Amino acid sequence: MKRIYIKDLEDHIGKEVIIKGWVNVRRDQGKMVFMDMRDFSGIVQCVVLPKSPAIEIVKEVRTEWVLAITGIVNERPAKNIKADILNGNIEIEIKNIEILNKAETPPFEITEDTKEVDENVRLKYRYLDLRTKRMQENMRARDKIISFFRNYMHKNDFVEIETPIMMKGTPEGSREYIVPSRLHKGKFYVLPQSPQQFKQLLMVAGFEKYFQIARCMRDEDQRGDRQPEFTQLDYEMSFVEQKDVLEYTEKMFIELVKILYPNKKITQIPFPILTYKESIKKYGSDKPDLRKNKNNPDELAFAWIVDFPMFEKTEEGEIQAAHHPFCSIKPEDKENFMKGEDIFSLRANAYDLVLNGYELSSGSIRIHDREEQKQVFKLLGISEEDQQKKFGHILEAFTYGAPPHGGFAPGIDRVVMLLQNEPNIREVIAFPKTGEGRDLMMNAPSEISKKQLKELGLKIE
Ligand code: AMO
Repeated sequence: MKRIYIKDLEDHIGKEVIIKGWVNVRRDQGKMVFMDMRDFSGIVQCVVLPKSPAIEIVKEVRTEWVLAITGIVNERPAKNIKADILNGNIEIEIKNIEILNKAETPPFEITEDTKEVDENVRLKYRYLDLRTKRMQENMRARDKIISFFRNYMHKNDFVEIETPIMMKGTPEGSREYIVPSRLHKGKFYVLPQSPQQFKQLLMVAGFEKYFQIARCMRDEDQRGDRQPEFTQLDYEMSFVEQKDVLEYTEKMFIELVKILYPNKKITQIPFPILTYKESIKKYGSDKPDLRKNKNNPDELAFAWIVDFPMFEKTEEGEIQAAHHPFCSIKPEDKENFMKGEDIFSLRANAYDLVLNGYELSSGSIRIHDREEQKQVFKLLGISEEDQQKKFGHILEAFTYGAPPHGGFAPGIDRVVMLLQNEPNIREVIAFPKTGEGRDLMMNAPSEISKKQLKELGLKIE
């Protein structure tokens, strides 16, 4: 007999079926035993009657055991019907139980929300935490959101292209994770902080509209809205101006909310646009929370922040690119830029999308001219020799007919966190790291063997 999913049992009333799944709850009432069985699709109440051949075996069964159950789908007596839940009108009368696997007592209740459970325990036993209803819903919501983005992009002529995970660094303001090379001892790949350079090179390659559900890696201090690995909806378009990127993105987010979160309300459409200066002056932040009611998670206050400065000073007093060195300069500031004057007042064609006090996304219209790009590097104090060493490929690519282009990269983890009303992005990532960047389940990072170190030509100090 074919296994029936629990969500489909209603179509089998009066028939014998096999279901497979986990024991969610078990209530031994002496003569009779009740069990709620759970599979990916739902929960159903099952009962073992005193004269059932399964009565002996069910006495032994415990929660979270994995069972194959054969039974009859019965309608419940009218007084026991629960109208508002899946399978509230039926139950399974168990004829036979096959134990597929036993289970230890879990370290926390699977049937309850684990919000209050010590997070280190949740992360060590993430595969159990993920069994809980809220985590299942978060992961499935994430899938739906990613599918929505992917379809939306495809409908609008974008092509998804995978870019390398082992690469040479793109400076985006944080430290890179480094991968030693066995074949080239003493040399290293780095993991991408984002596909920034590749997506620009794909514009030079003539794709015009690229996107990717892209994994990014950054070795930075963790916070609730930051992980060392995270995912972006990365995209880039050729022959566009800032307003084109903003318009496209705004429409996409409005449709996302309309289709997947119809109960949520967007505070203001079109999204308000503030310059960086205005936002800082008015709200003291470049990611203001513009909700009318700051406690209402179902209110979505999107806003655009534009005209970011091109350069900023680090704590050590050094100059660095505020977003990244590939942003173009606003036409009004071009003269000063080429002369290298008043550089901290130069504004880039760079924009952010913020939502309820979080930065959802950053992007810019890029430089596509070799000399302008070299001027940014020069102002950043990168020598001619280092420019060639680090960025020779992109400077050269700009001499082969690079089109004007620009793009954006919403952080998917943050989008899902806010739409699912979660307090941090760990709640919407299947296997996140702790605040200290550790994977408590697999215990990473961890040592590697002496043999591996030797092969890589590495010594630990
Ligand atoms: P940026 O560095 O601003 O831009 O990143 C874009 C968006 O990615 C998300 N994000 C993160 N999410 C979780 N954990 C992190 N550590 C983390 N860092 C960033 C945020 C952020 O707004 N290449 C450019 C984009 C472009 O110019 O097109 C970039 O990566 O939501």
